[in-house]
Amino acid sequence: MASDRPRVLSGIQPTAGSFHLGNYLGAVRQWVAMQETHDAFYMVVDLHAITVPQDPAELRANTRLAAAQLLGAGLDPDRCTLFVQSHVPEHAQLGWVMNCLTGFGEASRMTQFKDKSAKQGADRATVGLFTYPILQIADILLYQANAVPVGEDQRQHIELTRDLAERFNGRYGQTFTVPAPYIVKETAKIFDLQDPAIKMSKSASAPKGIINLLDEPKTSAKKIKSAVTDTGTEIRFDETGKPGISNLLTIYSTLTGAGVSELEKKYEGKGYGALKTDLAEVFVDWVTPFRARTQEFLDDPETLDSILAKGAEKARAVAAETLAQAYDRVGFLPAKH
Ligand code: TYM
Repeated sequence: MASDRPRVLSGIQPTAGSFHLGNYLGAVRQWVAMQETHDAFYMVVDLHAITVPQDPAELRANTRLAAAQLLGAGLDPDRCTLFVQSHVPEHAQLGWVMNCLTGFGEASRMTQFKDKSAKQGADRATVGLFTYPILQIADILLYQANAVPVGEDQRQHIELTRDLAERFNGRYGQTFTVPAPYIVKETAKIFDLQDPAIKMSKSASAPKGIINLLDEPKTSAKKIKSAVTDTGTEIRFDETGKPGISNLLTIYSTLTGAGVSELEKKYEGKGYGALKTDLAEVFVDWVTPFRARTQEFLDDPETLDSILAKGAEKARAVAAETLAQAYDRVGFLPAKH
């Protein structure tokens, strides 16, 4: 697909089933906007999902579920290329080449690996988990992506991608576009509703701290209404002094388009309760049509699978060209057909 637009690529794991509000505000929302301005490639990263133990039937179901949610959130297969990572074998192939270019110490410094492996214990954590960021590097470089829309927790992986692209280009000649992270400051890190010192996350958040988009809206409304707030009564954006309220203001502002200072004015003299009740309503109004659209795709797996098949075909055309070039540069003897 020839396009003059800059290229964008990003991915999301199908591990959790439902996306949470941090996934949407930190990443997926930007994906939807960027399909209008970029030549956009988005994928469900099932290869990454098996870096931790998985149930095969669940992984298969969650991969469809992730694709349905992306479409439900507004991705349009006529405006972007949506695919499943394992449908494009070039990811694993370039991943190997990148493994051989990455220093052991360099990979050991990845904080996500350190956190996850510390939780699981060194013997249980797999080598796949260790090389996870290197597969991610291959994901990005295969598409010659200029920009990678992600949340703050992915910044280090994108920085490593830049280093590796430059290293490969320096060693073998210009081959890969050096990508830039695209991280929207306001929503780069959505915090846990019960513990605003940590990010909202499937693995670290307690059930009351995380908003799962596919949960009953009533359940999520309740969680918003019982979100931890700070001492005092004033509704003011202050990340250090009032992290709980600031997080709610960020969510409110992003979902409605109202500026944070506008919201501060609106809630002047009103209590935290009023803000939380209104935000719960804003969220329910937003999530209800999202859930309905997602369900439509889940109810029609044939359409869903055909969108993913077309996406994989488009993605492969790009990925195969880049891989062939990289293989050639590295010095692999071309296979004769
Ligand atoms: P994953 O599946 O953990 O998360 C998907 C996206 O959601 C963002 N995110 C958040 N943003 C703001 N606040 C939060 N609390 C929050 N929690 C999650 C993540 O930053 C991410 O953008 N390694 C990636 C998947 C991946 C990828 C790629 C991304 C594989 N290959 C290539 C970009 C390019 C991951 O685990 O995302």
